[in-house]
Amino acid sequence: MKIIDEINRRRTFAIISHPDAGKTTLTEKLLLYGGAVQLAGSVTSRKNQRATTSDWMELERKRGISVSSTVLQFDYAGHRINLLDTPGHKDFSEDTYRVLTAVDAAVMVIDAGKGIEAETRKLFEVCRQRGVPIFTFMNKLDRPTRDPLELMDELESVLGIHAYAMNWPLGTGPDFKGIYDRQASEAHLFERTQHGSYRAPEEVGDIDHPLIRDRLEGDVREQVREELAMLDEAGAAFDVEAVRDGKLTPVFFGSAMNNFGVQLLLDSFLEYAPAPGRRMAECGPIEPTHPTFSGFIFKIQANMDPRHRDRIAFVRVVSGKFTREMTVTHAQTGRRARLSNAQALFGRERETIEEAFPGDVVGVVGGRDFGIGATLTEDPAIVYHEIPRFPPECFAYLHNPNPSQYKRFDQGVQQLLQEGVVQCFELPQRRQKVALLAAVGPLQFEIVKYRLESEYGAEARLESAPWSMVRWFAQSMDAESLAKLYLPGGVEHAVDTRGEPALLFADDWQVRYFNERNADVTLS
Ligand code: G4P
Repeated sequence: MKIIDEINRRRTFAIISHPDAGKTTLTEKLLLYGGAVQLAGSVTSRKNQRATTSDWMELERKRGISVSSTVLQFDYAGHRINLLDTPGHKDFSEDTYRVLTAVDAAVMVIDAGKGIEAETRKLFEVCRQRGVPIFTFMNKLDRPTRDPLELMDELESVLGIHAYAMNWPLGTGPDFKGIYDRQASEAHLFERTQHGSYRAPEEVGDIDHPLIRDRLEGDVREQVREELAMLDEAGAAFDVEAVRDGKLTPVFFGSAMNNFGVQLLLDSFLEYAPAPGRRMAECGPIEPTHPTFSGFIFKIQANMDPRHRDRIAFVRVVSGKFTREMTVTHAQTGRRARLSNAQALFGRERETIEEAFPGDVVGVVGGRDFGIGATLTEDPAIVYHEIPRFPPECFAYLHNPNPSQYKRFDQGVQQLLQEGVVQCFELPQRRQKVALLAAVGPLQFEIVKYRLESEYGAEARLESAPWSMVRWFAQSMDAESLAKLYLPGGVEHAVDTRGEPALLFADDWQVRYFNERNADVTLS
């Protein structure tokens, strides 16, 4: 197959959601429909198996959570699908955000009984800033939900994105009888199957079909008819370009647990989501068809297998063809490296891969120098800056309880900072030097402690710190202007690893108060 065909058939995406909205269930059902697993259950049962069979990472076993982003690759209807998992729940962290830099689209799962929740909002924001196209799946229609029109409204008013209903529920909760596909003018009727493990039976007809008339109570049918008329009148036409620009989200209704609406979501997604596109490098945009291989590291996973003490760098291929044993340049250091041990991943199973194309994710084992954000390329002129810094929300002081081990301790800390596991700040006003770690989620701190001990033999003690936000200055600030600032009680000066001054705040209220009292200063 020609490289252009390989690129065009690829879809690389992630599912974003608030915990419990149904991400795991939908993932499992997509795999089921995609033919990657025969019977649903293999992904969810992960949760139960983890405690007994996990050899992934000791930390994971201890806490019974998934520390890593999993990459699932499977073929369906001529497409090659790369589904990147975004760790949520307690393991919400930088990694969750960084995964979104490596995808070309996202599916946002919303619990239709609850609407948009906090974590969804944060993840949506990262996608929006990057212009990532978003497809919305309103889940759990088999249970009482909020008014579907209100849910559509919420997408516009809370997230600020235009929404287009691709299909529409025929009743909700106990009255839920199916969905109406607006584009095909067809109704898909819902039948509850045991455990929802098999494909849901679908009968297709138009809204006035006798089958639907038999199923839907008169008043429910009247309401659906009115809602559909309203959507037709009020809504603009479906615009694929607006979807690809991240300005319009196509909305699908269904029930992941019952396999309902999953096929419609998957088929539309494959049709309308973009194939891997160009990415911006320092030297200009790089097309996926660019003749040389290039990619960037968006995640590093250490100790995936404690027996081997290894370290995997996950590379998103941006251009050209990747082949095993190829020699690449690490663009940031100029060093050459042979990628002799590259692996494809399906969940936690790995196999050696021979080749990969734009959109794919390759796990490169080893490579101590490789940090998050690093570019690997055959053409040293290509340097990507795909990974931004994400605003941390958790802070902790890092102490070394064994001063005699300071060398190991410092070496370990430097390595972890280079990998981007956490951010670090100095507190210039303190008499004693202290390192302040900052992360998106508290899990990162445990990873630091664990890795310092297991990889560097250095004990570490973490102590929680009272802040939840850091703000930098939009203008340049010298020592004199910093000293002149009015700081509300509890707000403290900090300096990041690049030497940039910043301020630490406990909450929004403190930021507002600071802004009021320092009107000539702008925070970023
Ligand atoms: P998450 O990964 O986003 O956290 O959500 P997950 O898929 O684990 O789903 C959270 C809960 O919601 C699960 O129930 C799951 O079965 C349920 N769920 C998912 N989709 C639907 C749906 O379409 N309808 C209904 N009614 N429920 C749904 P649980 O009780 O926490 O777990 P389990 O015992 O069912 O595995």
